[in-house]
Amino acid sequence: MFLQYFLVTVFTILVHSASSLGTFQQDQLSGYGHEIHANNESSLLLKLRRLMAVNNNQFENSAKRSKGSRRYVVNVDKFGAKADGTDDSQAFIKAWKKACSTKQSIFMVPARKVYHLKPVTFEGPCQSGITMRIQGSIRASTYMSDYEKDRRIWLKFENLRDFTVDGGGVISGNGQIWWSKSCKVDEKQALTFDNCINLKVTHLKIKNAQQMHLNFRNCENVEASNLKVKSKETSPNTDGIHVSGSRNVQILNCDIGTGDDCISIVSGSSKIRAMDIKCGPGHGISIGSLGKNGEEDRVSDITVTRATLTGTTNGVRIKSWQGGRGYAQNIVFENIAMQNVTNPIIIDQFYCDKKEHNCKAQKNAVQVKSVLYKNIKGTSALEKGIIFNCSETFPCEGVRMQNIELTHNGQSSEASCANINVQQIGRNTPRCPKQL
Ligand SMILES: *[C@@H]1O[C@H](CO)[C@@H](O)[C@H](O)[C@H]1NC(C)=O
Ligand SMILES: *[C@@H]1O[C@H](CO)[C@@H](O)[C@H](O)[C@H]1NC(C)=O
Ligand SMILES: *[C@@H]1O[C@H](CO)[C@@H](O)[C@H](O)[C@H]1NC(C)=O
Repeated sequence: MFLQYFLVTVFTILVHSASSLGTFQQDQLSGYGHEIHANNESSLLLKLRRLMAVNNNQFENSAKRSKGSRRYVVNVDKFGAKADGTDDSQAFIKAWKKACSTKQSIFMVPARKVYHLKPVTFEGPCQSGITMRIQGSIRASTYMSDYEKDRRIWLKFENLRDFTVDGGGVISGNGQIWWSKSCKVDEKQALTFDNCINLKVTHLKIKNAQQMHLNFRNCENVEASNLKVKSKETSPNTDGIHVSGSRNVQILNCDIGTGDDCISIVSGSSKIRAMDIKCGPGHGISIGSLGKNGEEDRVSDITVTRATLTGTTNGVRIKSWQGGRGYAQNIVFENIAMQNVTNPIIIDQFYCDKKEHNCKAQKNAVQVKSVLYKNIKGTSALEKGIIFNCSETFPCEGVRMQNIELTHNGQSSEASCANINVQQIGRNTPRCPKQL
């Protein structure tokens, strides 16, 4: 009886979220018990339906009703969007108000049209279960004066819960006008997600961001999947996906090629998994930089698995500044292919931007601890396939290598290893010399 009640409850939840049953719901379900195998959705639904048939009518009726009810569509065109090259921001803001107040609504950006937006904030809290479905294209205003209020943002999503962005459309930051006058201090972002919980961003192309393409800031339970993120190799500071202060983030099946890091993970982030990533051109997959200006930064439980890096300046990198505090720990880089990568494996505890900073060695450093490199193969563009440049006062700890094979010009590459004692498992080329 308990099981029946339990299954009915699960079924009700399932039906309510039927159209958006994403990985998170599945992940949550799979923890519930042995009877249920949420990865076989059809068999689960089948079992539940059978159970429903012999169960009380009240549930069945309510389930049918919610299953039959269509989601309310808020089409930006109905709110005055013209897609004729003029500014569509006001129409989007009006449409958002409506969508935000309507549970399970779909904010629709129709296909085969191009909308132009100034900086817009899609602000919550909103009703839950809202989807922004971008099927057409959205382009950024190219008038600098439109960005005067907050030069760092273009499209911002804030304080949202159970929110999805999808649709297969294209978002273009029209970044060319910014790249020529790039200013690092601004850190301008195309898409910013701030304080979002249970967020899914999927099936979109994001290109030519002003600087960063996607920024997840102080978010929890995020799936960023099936994204194509593209801008020119020479575009400055155009990180692909940037994660800061966020927990439980999955970056899945993304193809990223930009002028900066494909993925960068910085302070306050934990439980981050990047899987099935194509990266290049760009600066690779980075943890950091950490500890700038003496800050205390903490990053932990990061996994990068099944990635291919092509022609990037770094492969998998951990970088921190001298003088910082905190840690980067419990990190796994595995099943990674490198193709002509300049620094395939690198830990740099002496990261420094010489233009802005004094780069002297200092007493404090961000502790790098428990890092596994496993099944990483391919080619290095330079002789050094591995650089572990750890600081004397805070040596790198608990670093393990297993099945590494990095060649340069058909021969084994070299390893440069300072202040680190690497535990070698299996065959590794190159390998760090044993230190005292
Ligand atoms: C899922 O379950 C159904 C019904 O039990 C079965 O027919 C189907 O083969 C299963 N699919 C997978 C992928 O396991
Ligand atoms: C490898 O990368 C280097 C430096 O980025 C570049 O000059 C060279 O042409 C690349 N080689 C191949 C075979 O792609
Ligand atoms: C390690 O960092 C120091 C300090 O910045 C630098 O002088 C040195 O060249 C680096 N070593 C390698 C192998 O990159």
